[in-house]
Amino acid sequence: MAGSNGVYAPLRRYAHITGWGKALPDRVVANEELARIVDTSDEWIRTRTGIEQRYIATDPAETTATLGARAGRAALEQADIPASKLDLIICATSSPEHLFPSTACIIQDHLGASRAGAFDLSAACSGFVYGVSLARSLILAGQMETVLVIGAETLSRIVDWSDRGTCVLFGDGAGAVVLQARAVPGGVLSTLLGSDGSGGELLAVPAGGSALPTSLETVAGGQHFIKMDGRAVFRFATRVMAEATRAVLEKAGIGIDDIDIVIPHQANHRIIQSSMRQLGLPDEKVFINLQNYGNTSTASIPIALCEAIEQGRLKPNDKVVLVGFGAGLTWAATAIQWAAPTEREVPLWRAGQRSATYGLARMRSRFLRFSRQVEGSLLSEEGEGWSDALSERISRWRRSRQPEE
Ligand code: UT7
Repeated sequence: MAGSNGVYAPLRRYAHITGWGKALPDRVVANEELARIVDTSDEWIRTRTGIEQRYIATDPAETTATLGARAGRAALEQADIPASKLDLIICATSSPEHLFPSTACIIQDHLGASRAGAFDLSAACSGFVYGVSLARSLILAGQMETVLVIGAETLSRIVDWSDRGTCVLFGDGAGAVVLQARAVPGGVLSTLLGSDGSGGELLAVPAGGSALPTSLETVAGGQHFIKMDGRAVFRFATRVMAEATRAVLEKAGIGIDDIDIVIPHQANHRIIQSSMRQLGLPDEKVFINLQNYGNTSTASIPIALCEAIEQGRLKPNDKVVLVGFGAGLTWAATAIQWAAPTEREVPLWRAGQRSATYGLARMRSRFLRFSRQVEGSLLSEEGEGWSDALSERISRWRRSRQPEE
């Protein structure tokens, strides 16, 4: 665009949330049900945390990746774009499928996002906001156009079901947003990330990594489960949530009174209320849905965002704050000027078309696996000429499926 002095100024870019989606397992577990397996009560859980029920992935086929992929599909649907448009998939998770490969890569395969890079982000419950911050930076730097940020968990698989201090708190689920480059001012205005590794032992899964590799002793000692000093995390959280919110608003040049809604990490209603009262924010400006989901770690903020939208709590131009804290210790906040229309009719034929592309993604994945097997078995047969030629053809075909540099 030419300015008055004839010099071409680059168009300003903004990172907007254009799609959102959530996914939950089928099984709802109410407090009363937990009271039958550990020494707790509905009354204790409600009054100390605000939680009434949570979703648990009891079906072994439901995993962090399947929940993440479902939430990602819903977000792509809402943004009305195919998975092939994605430049990057960031999956924030505290319960990844494996140490590696990343859960994000498994989701990339499920979605058939053939042009996308993919990686996991480990910042515990702050991870989703860390992901939004990174996606925004990549978009503003002109490196990427479209990024999918997912928070996905199956914490029920790493919780000690005999530890009443933790097992009543957590739930499974996933939430996702699509961020896209736009020329319209607004979107993600500012972000703030923080960490304090000196508090690492307050909330941790001690074993299974390189510091304490899996052994008979670690398994027998329950070292692969979540361990938490609840009171210390509580004190840290109530301090840092208010501070992070203030700081991110200052970066965006927004006053507390201008906020329309805060969507905090859904860990404990007492933490949320105490933090928001420090800011002088009235209850009606704070979104809480932890009574239905428990603490879903990285998924809690995107699930709450989706639900706030479903309940008509967000309108174009609203000033929204997302703020979280978690293991690490970490904390993160972002201030957003909401711009996306919260209601969009996607024609039925397009929904059908999308669903067909996911069927094709499954076929593509199977074919790639099969071709790799064929190639492997041919190469192991003493490398005769015809098998070399065939494997070269397969490699060429596979290279042609990769995006251009
Ligand atoms: O995403 C970040 C994840 N972590 C958090 O956000 C955790 C932050 N912390 C908290 O939310 C709270 O500290 C908890 C909800 C974990 C605990 O609440 P609290 O008010 O700090 O309770 P407490 O740990 O001080 O325990 C009070 C009592 C203890 O009994 P005694 O020692 O007073 O006899 C506990 O043994 O409550 C007992 N208790 C329970 N009783 C019934 C602890 N858990 C339970 C339970 N049911 N599930």
